[in-house]
Amino acid sequence: MQPLKIVAIYGSPRRKGNTALLLKEAVKGAQDFGANVEEIVLRDLNISPCLEIYGCKESGECRIKDDFQTVRDKILASHGLMIASPVFFYAVSAHLKILMDRFQSLWVKKYWVDNIPGEPQKFIRKGLLISVGATKGKKLFDGILLTLRYFFDVLDMELWRTLLYRGLDFEGDILKHPDYLDEAYAAGKGFVEALGDLC
Ligand SMILES: Cc1cc2nc3c(=O)[nH]c(=O)nc-3n(C[C@H](O)[C@H](O)[C@H](O)COP(=O)(O)O)c2cc1C
Repeated sequence: MQPLKIVAIYGSPRRKGNTALLLKEAVKGAQDFGANVEEIVLRDLNISPCLEIYGCKESGECRIKDDFQTVRDKILASHGLMIASPVFFYAVSAHLKILMDRFQSLWVKKYWVDNIPGEPQKFIRKGLLISVGATKGKKLFDGILLTLRYFFDVLDMELWRTLLYRGLDFEGDILKHPDYLDEAYAAGKGFVEALGDLC
């Protein structure tokens, strides 16, 4: 059996913020159960927003050369993706949205260059979403979930599970909820089990 590869994307600008601590627990859970996890902190990388020049129309390769290519290759070589983002104005963080938009080059490769038929889709990866917002509204995560659904589509990725927590605002708020951190650890372990189906 090939080793399970997971990529964990830290999407918050806060290094020790609420989503970062939750993701760290999920990563620990996955590592303790044998997965090989590559952690990527988006705020440390140099990734330009999509410039919509459609240089990718030629071959599906993005013309902007920066850290995107390395992140893309790691994600495409993985079985599972853990993504953590705070809710920022009912959407994902800007760091994460910039990364997502650059994957338009992969969408172009699949549907324009390689002409892959849209349906039926075969999932070859699974994803775990972790998100946190300060408020408590019913629709707090609706924007993120919709964006993620279409982002995962381009990666042939099934949304395996979400961990969504309301009412957390200041750095360290998550530490008042050890049960949430335990859930994240358990999700990391469960993720490894679920990914076993793909190997
Ligand atoms: C730019 C910005 C926009 C935000 N927008 C929202 C929002 O729309 N709804 C909400 O409930 N919280 C919002 N928040 C609060 C964050 O979601 C909250 O502080 C969260 O705990 C941050 O997670 P982190 O510590 O992982 O960065 C916003 C915070 C910032 C800085």
